[in-house]
Amino acid sequence: MKVFTYVGSKRGFESKTLKSVNQLLRNLSENNNDIPLDTVLYSADNIDMRKCTGCCNCFFNGFCPLDEKDDMKKIKNDMLSSDLIIIASPVYLHHVSGNTKTLIDRLSHWAHIFKLIGKLGVTVSVSSTNGNEHVDFYLQKVLSMFGIIVIDSLSLPLDLLNQQEIDKKIKDSSDKISQSISNRTLIRPTQKQEFLFRSLKDMYSSPTLDNAESNYWASKDYFESESFAELFQKHFLIHD
Ligand SMILES: Cc1cc2nc3c(=O)[nH]c(=O)nc-3n(C[C@H](O)[C@H](O)[C@H](O)COP(=O)(O)O)c2cc1C
Repeated sequence: MKVFTYVGSKRGFESKTLKSVNQLLRNLSENNNDIPLDTVLYSADNIDMRKCTGCCNCFFNGFCPLDEKDDMKKIKNDMLSSDLIIIASPVYLHHVSGNTKTLIDRLSHWAHIFKLIGKLGVTVSVSSTNGNEHVDFYLQKVLSMFGIIVIDSLSLPLDLLNQQEIDKKIKDSSDKISQSISNRTLIRPTQKQEFLFRSLKDMYSSPTLDNAESNYWASKDYFESESFAELFQKHFLIHD
């Protein structure tokens, strides 16, 4: 099973978000002895990612001109070939870090085409004491819009927890992720995903609309699905 992880801290090995994510990945590896994990991890300190210029080429023509100039092409390919997507951010004034937001901006057009349909997701927020719930909510919303079903959100206000409590939260999260991977009945889309699917389907099925996004929907046979749940099931596959 391939796991993609992004850590939105620039602090390298000092980063508590990175340390928490590494512990989560170690637990997951131990839990899933029968399914070996192939993990790829990007951290904001070791990638070249330019800020979105707002040209909207991605929405209209289906590609970002910046992808040729920085690491985004490789990052996108790794996301597309992964089964589980983990997005981890430090809490910066009750929001994701600017680096995490740059990643999300560069992927924004994927929200209109459910580009990551069929994948599972996990969000991680790390703060000193407060604001995690805003980051959890935002990351859950973004991943859902990409077509991902979020199976857990690990929320760590580190200064309010002792080491034992931190370890327990990370262990509970890895156990929950492992259970969802082995038991498909735990994987359920949200009402908001169903609503978004119906809205986008109505919009892109209009014969007067002819752009990269409506063409993508047609080329992937999305219109043939009656619901988000049906579309997700068609694409859901965990690789060995
Ligand atoms: C610009 C900035 C804003 C922050 N805002 C918050 C906040 O709103 N709430 C909080 O509890 N901690 C806040 N912190 C602390 C970080 O969330 C905390 O130190 C976190 O562990 C940093 O992650 P890292 O070690 O992975 O870089 C902030 C830190 C910075 C640098």
